[in-house]
Amino acid sequence: MTSTLPSTQAVHPEGALPYQDPSLTTAERVADLLDRMTVEEKVGQMLQLDARDDLQDHILRRHAGSILHTSPERILEANRLTSQTRLRIPLLVGEDCIHGHSFWPGATIYPTQLGMAASWDAELIERVARATAEEVAVTGVHWTFSPVLCIARDLRWGRVSETFGEDPYLIGELASAMVRGYQGDGLDDPTAILATAKHFAGYSETQGGRDASEADISRRKLRSWFLPPFERVAREGCRTFMLGYQSTDGVPITVNDWLLSEVLRGEWGYTGTLITDWDNVGRMVWEQKVQPDYAHAAAAAVKAGNDMVMTTPLFFEGALEAVARGLLAEDAFDAAVARILTLKFDLGLFEDPRLPSERMDAVVGSADHAALNLEVARRSLVLLENDGTLPLAAGAPAAPVRVAVVGPLADDAQTQLGDWAGGSGQAGWLDGQPREMITTVLDGLEAVDGLDVRHARGADILTLAEDPLGSTFPDGQPRPPLVVPCPPDAGLIAEAVAAASESDVVVAVVGDRIELVGEGRSTATLELIGGQNALLDALIATGKPVVVILLASKPLVLPPSVADAAAVIWAANPGMLGGRALAELITGAIEPSGRLPISFARHAGQQPTYYNQLRGQHGDRYADLTQEPAWAFGQGLSYTTVEYADLALARTELGAGDLIEAEVTVRNTGDRPARETVQLYVRDTVTSVSWTDRELKAYRQVDLAPGEFARVRLTLPVAECTIVDADGVRLVEAGDFELLVGSSSRPADLLGAPFTVR
Ligand code: NOJ
Repeated sequence: MTSTLPSTQAVHPEGALPYQDPSLTTAERVADLLDRMTVEEKVGQMLQLDARDDLQDHILRRHAGSILHTSPERILEANRLTSQTRLRIPLLVGEDCIHGHSFWPGATIYPTQLGMAASWDAELIERVARATAEEVAVTGVHWTFSPVLCIARDLRWGRVSETFGEDPYLIGELASAMVRGYQGDGLDDPTAILATAKHFAGYSETQGGRDASEADISRRKLRSWFLPPFERVAREGCRTFMLGYQSTDGVPITVNDWLLSEVLRGEWGYTGTLITDWDNVGRMVWEQKVQPDYAHAAAAAVKAGNDMVMTTPLFFEGALEAVARGLLAEDAFDAAVARILTLKFDLGLFEDPRLPSERMDAVVGSADHAALNLEVARRSLVLLENDGTLPLAAGAPAAPVRVAVVGPLADDAQTQLGDWAGGSGQAGWLDGQPREMITTVLDGLEAVDGLDVRHARGADILTLAEDPLGSTFPDGQPRPPLVVPCPPDAGLIAEAVAAASESDVVVAVVGDRIELVGEGRSTATLELIGGQNALLDALIATGKPVVVILLASKPLVLPPSVADAAAVIWAANPGMLGGRALAELITGAIEPSGRLPISFARHAGQQPTYYNQLRGQHGDRYADLTQEPAWAFGQGLSYTTVEYADLALARTELGAGDLIEAEVTVRNTGDRPARETVQLYVRDTVTSVSWTDRELKAYRQVDLAPGEFARVRLTLPVAECTIVDADGVRLVEAGDFELLVGSSSRPADLLGAPFTVR
């Protein structure tokens, strides 16, 4: 988009006040400005309000310090209003730039976080975050509410696609990379944006997958798995943390003193800025009902150490009333306001409010970013099954391979992008990203020479009905409509079967739609909705080889007929160029290299299916079903075969300060190249308290030509072989361990080597 842009360089008049003097330190400027602010201005500074509402009221009456959900035009309008305020404190503009600049028309939309996680490639994800920061910064947005560090455990939860999957170590690696990418070389770099580690902490530990339900989670469990990724990015300088919606032990995280003060600020020494999630302060009054009114809710939130309060406009009145009623001292806001102002000074916003820049058209959606998007889309695809049908050899011009591309998602451009993209509904100013920027699977295959492509939709997924309880929640937020699955349609199936009959191979693209994904949109089942199972059954019954592409935000359960499919590929909302990447994969122009960052269930009733569950249960299966997942964490095929052998440790008797040094031979035994993800897990044989049987601790990716082998060296400090004991203390317990190395978390895929820690 183009716009008429004002100059972004503010000119300081002679006799500028100390806080306006860039030669002073941030601390000096903060102190000076804080001194000049009224209590109303301080309370307002703590507010982040929705830019789609009345900006004049937000900025001129409530003195808001920040806005979010800002359309291109509203950023300029908000900054015009700020220039009319007494102290002219610039706004922090925040946005959910989750996998690209989600709601900016024409921005590059990458695979979802879960899709990117399938690459297991931190360096690649850092580059995606850097490119995203460039697009975001140039449009006048300073702060992204990304990445998500929640551990996805119950697949029914609607927000699985926003996570890096189920493993704390992998989450820590990838989140740390993403934070580095966003924040760049420091906030004075004009392409740096603030990163947010969210949702602190335990939000994903839902009851039955129900979004934002009470997280029934002990402190020990938090310390064992949920906190480590957050601790890592806190120590590495992630500038902001967002607090989840949920309560634990009856206490909303917004006022959880143990988590916020003792652990985050205390143990980890975190000096960054905390932001609540959407109306967390109001929810304590109207939803969780743990505060009688906004004065008490505001007082509790301030005392607990919250800095920025997202979209609770009545925090303004509530906090002032709390002061008037003696619930809060007048200086109670100073620490929070100082932290917010620190961000603004560090970003240099007083000198340059970083408004949308004239460089925007060159940066947003650039060709370089499209190339990066294609790279990460390719790496996000996971080949789960293949009977040898793939890769398809495209035919000669005279005898092209006939391909039936069927399924409701074969040509659904916006659905391919997933949640937090133009069409996902959170922003009112666009209903999708430009169609011409998106390559669907149909587009991708049609562009391949040597294929003769025909298309049939084959099934519908769902229609919507209004919730009888109304279209909004008590706070005015939209209530998601009810999903009504479409029945199988005999006519559509017949068309698809006819297309299959005229073809050599069928590519069936099935999955979920945005109405089944996201906040407040958890699913009770994991099955394909609507006519999709019937479609797959009918296609597979034709006897033609069927390549199933599961274009789904999260792991879903496929019907039993898929056991007879020729191949299964998971593409977790692979972004704008996902269709091209899939066409390349199917035709062998690229090699499959993605590995599952999350396990797939066979049935919703198996939940949870994550690999690192605690030891100790009677038996290892249900009476009516195995407990084995359909595909486990770490799994993924190549077009070649890879063998592991000769795992050896340099030393097997080790002290607490030593390094475990291992080598394993990894051999490409087939005739195609491989990018193999060599995974290292640790098993602590006997622990003082129950613990998981194996945990990912390291991995390495190696490229092997056909026939090539490598002796892959892996190292791990013994200090990483920890458990969390009954008192919540993380420590290495001396004794026997096993190092497990292989191609996935499945015991059958791992070689073992014992070692002892003295
Ligand atoms: C609520 C979501 O939980 C959070 O992830 C998001 O950043 C905010 N809304 C702002 O849109």
